Amino acid sequence: MKATLDDVEVVLTRKEPFTFVAKAVVFLVIFALGVVAGFWAVTGPRQYYSSYTGFLFPSTAVYRGGGGGSVCCRPGVDVGFAEFVAPTRLMHNMSDEQLVWRATMAPASGAYPFERVPKVAFMFLAGRGVLPLAPLWERFFRGHEGLFSVYVHAPPGTMVNVSNDSPFYRRQIPSQETSWGSVTLMDAEKRLLANALLDFSNERFVLLSESCIPVQSFPTVYAYLTGSRHSFVEVYYHQNKQCRGRYSRRMAPDITLPQWRKGSQWFELSRDLAMRVLADTKYYPLFRQHCRPSCYPDEHYLPTLVNMLHGEQNSNRTVTYVDWSRGGAHPAMYGAEAVTPDLIQRIRRSDKQPCTYNSRPTSTCFLFARKFSPDALAPLLNISPTVMQY
Ligand SMILES: *[C@@H]1O[C@H](CO)[C@@H](O)[C@H](O)[C@H]1NC(C)=O
Ligand SMILES: *[C@@H]1O[C@H](CO)[C@@H](O)[C@H](O)[C@H]1NC(C)=O
Ligand SMILES: *[C@@H]1O[C@H](CO)[C@@H](O)[C@H](O)[C@H]1NC(C)=O
Repeated sequence: MKATLDDVEVVLTRKEPFTFVAKAVVFLVIFALGVVAGFWAVTGPRQYYSSYTGFLFPSTAVYRGGGGGSVCCRPGVDVGFAEFVAPTRLMHNMSDEQLVWRATMAPASGAYPFERVPKVAFMFLAGRGVLPLAPLWERFFRGHEGLFSVYVHAPPGTMVNVSNDSPFYRRQIPSQETSWGSVTLMDAEKRLLANALLDFSNERFVLLSESCIPVQSFPTVYAYLTGSRHSFVEVYYHQNKQCRGRYSRRMAPDITLPQWRKGSQWFELSRDLAMRVLADTKYYPLFRQHCRPSCYPDEHYLPTLVNMLHGEQNSNRTVTYVDWSRGGAHPAMYGAEAVTPDLIQRIRRSDKQPCTYNSRPTSTCFLFARKFSPDALAPLLNISPTVMQY
């Protein structure tokens, strides 16, 4: 294309107008015919593939035109496999039921026909369709492409405003309305998990919100999660109104009071456990029916289910720090004035309350923390290189 234009330019500057211009026009006509022929060659055979890859890979971007339409040997085939293994276009029109069915399919063969580098899926619940702390996360992710993927559940019809080189760009999944404390919140969490499972390289799945921050560097978070033998679903039982008091006898005999548990909404799951959670069709309907305010499914469903069926795979703690010390229905919110190196250091190293990692004691118990208000962004960006190491 460029060569052709240069040729015409040369022709026109020679000041021998007519014959050369005529030649140039003939040349352009032949060139245009070539483009049309090339286009036909690309689009013609495409019909064949669409009839069967459309069946294998419904509603994903199977065809993205091989290299601008100039070279084409096996249209759709290679791109189709890559897109099947790791969808790059996240929008689809599957219902939740169809999506979960597809997401819980697991390869029976242990070997992957591609180089599989395990990734961490960062799943954001953006309740109001904004991610005010995105610049901090962008700094955290920078330079680690290929080791993570991002998913955002924002209210339907909203578009998270980020630049096109951001890891959040075009990472919104098909969403539905959620309301605080209702089962729709748990539905959204499961929707995030299911969409993230479609990428076969995602190995660990962490739920976050727009007010969460990373308190460790990416390499630390990545090694911690991919190296863990356990998932991080907080599980506990308290003999009080906020735990025992939320159990409904109507869940028996499938879920009995001794099996009832509570824990933080902010979970982290291995791929295996994520699949098992989505595959549950027995217990979730009981929560939908019998766990209504003041019972909150997002605080009871996973802790109860994981503890009942997969306890040995769980650490029973969360990797997301939150401060409930003030009491009440909502935890403490840190604004600009509350952000100090000391606060973040105390979260990074739980010297007073160590935990275990792969059955060994450690003081690195938290990878993330909440809740931080939008005006905390500037002070967080100030201290992130020295305190958080990113
Ligand atoms: C999804 O889109 C396809 C075509 O893109 C259409 O044939 C199908 O009916 C749609 N399904 C739903 C559930 O809307
Ligand atoms: C999106 O972000 C840009 C840059 O931060 C800003 O200039 C613009 O006004 C924002 N758009 C909306 C709709 O918020
Ligand atoms: C978590 O609790 C389950 C069930 O009580 C138990 O089997 C498991 O060993 C615990 N995990 C750890 C890391 O202690």
